[in-house]
Amino acid sequence: MLKVYRGELLHFLADPGKVALEDSYQYIADGLLIIKNGLIEQVGEAAELLATLDESIEVTHYEHGLMMPGFIDTHVHYPQTEMIASYGEQLLEWLENYTFPFERKFADLEHGKKVAEFFLTQLLEAGTTTALVFGTVHKESVEAFFTIAQQKKLRMICGKVLMDQNCPDYLSDTAQTGYDDSKALIKKWHKTDRLQYAITPRFAPTCSSEQLNKAGQLLAENPSVYLHTHLSENKAEIAWVKDLFPESKGYLDVYDQSQLLGRRSVFAHGVHLHDSECQRLGETDSAIAFCPSSNLFLGSGLFNLKQAQKFDINVGYGTDIGAGTTFSMLSTLNEGYKTQQLRSDKLSPFQSFYLATLGGAIALDLEGTIGNFTKGAEADFIVLDYHATPLMDRRMQYCKSLSEKLFILSMLGDERHVKATHIMGERV
Ligand code: GUN
Ligand code: ZN
Repeated sequence: MLKVYRGELLHFLADPGKVALEDSYQYIADGLLIIKNGLIEQVGEAAELLATLDESIEVTHYEHGLMMPGFIDTHVHYPQTEMIASYGEQLLEWLENYTFPFERKFADLEHGKKVAEFFLTQLLEAGTTTALVFGTVHKESVEAFFTIAQQKKLRMICGKVLMDQNCPDYLSDTAQTGYDDSKALIKKWHKTDRLQYAITPRFAPTCSSEQLNKAGQLLAENPSVYLHTHLSENKAEIAWVKDLFPESKGYLDVYDQSQLLGRRSVFAHGVHLHDSECQRLGETDSAIAFCPSSNLFLGSGLFNLKQAQKFDINVGYGTDIGAGTTFSMLSTLNEGYKTQQLRSDKLSPFQSFYLATLGGAIALDLEGTIGNFTKGAEADFIVLDYHATPLMDRRMQYCKSLSEKLFILSMLGDERHVKATHIMGERV
């Protein structure tokens, strides 16, 4: 089954920070995207490829939009959807006062399904087609999420939270029940259709050493699953970890001691990392989810992207809903740019869109599967609209280059500028 889309087209082939800019992307002003059975078959100039197609094949023409791979959100909490924009606290008080009471509701499978339905609809409207997602401590939360994601044929990664200390009793598991429940969820859901599992210790303060070691054991027993947690987000949190784990060399070392670093390990935030920790993340091929809207909202700090790049750490963008304040990856790019401005570092528009697509795919070890238009990749793609709002329309009249176009999209764009989202070639 062929599906053919025509229009302006952009995707990345490599990190623009590592290769010559012109080698990092493919841009075609009038391009054709040919999709076969949901997978990318061919990409090229419309003028050339149209001639090769049978005349009976219908071509969908997006005349005033930019086709690109769907955005990838490398860190987000679906159970926090309904508590987004909770006022006035930094991380630890925010968790206790707002987050934990909301997460309690996910013991109920039906509640989870309702929130998952809303959450996934919001993500798709924002042009995000894959995400690495926190559940809650309840196995029902993951059951609910995967059930809805499967119905929507999405590539999604999720996991049950592990936490057995420093949390309310009603949200606590044990090292053993956390292990058993995660194991059962892996068996049922990991690699079912497009779904994958992430072992999800919440963060060091809420996990005993025994629980972290069990997580490491589970990861070793299931090497194709992910490890997803938080790291060095907030100064008070870091001081607390130091108190709780006096024998460790630092925050990252707590995870390292339990064998939790590696190719499919994703650490959210990493706002306050030492060079030695970055070195270790880089050499183990671990990834960081950069969550600027959350870091600004909770007053956590300004992520040092340059430092991460220096140590060759895989980085993707995360919205971190509900500490993050937007589902929109375009708005997240806006916040990311501003955090780097405050560090006096320039974040180029090419780098931004790379991180939101191919960079995210690499962070999730899904290069070749999603994130660009390589032959054989899954055809999850979006169409961005330069003219969806009067302001962007007006600003675009003075735009002279692709770089400037991308920059304007990332500064002025949000859900309104996502004209269409496609999953495996089908518009949703
Ligand atoms: N650290 C531990 N849990 C959380 C959470 O739910 N959100 C954020 N932003 N940081 C955390
Ligand atoms: Zn988070």
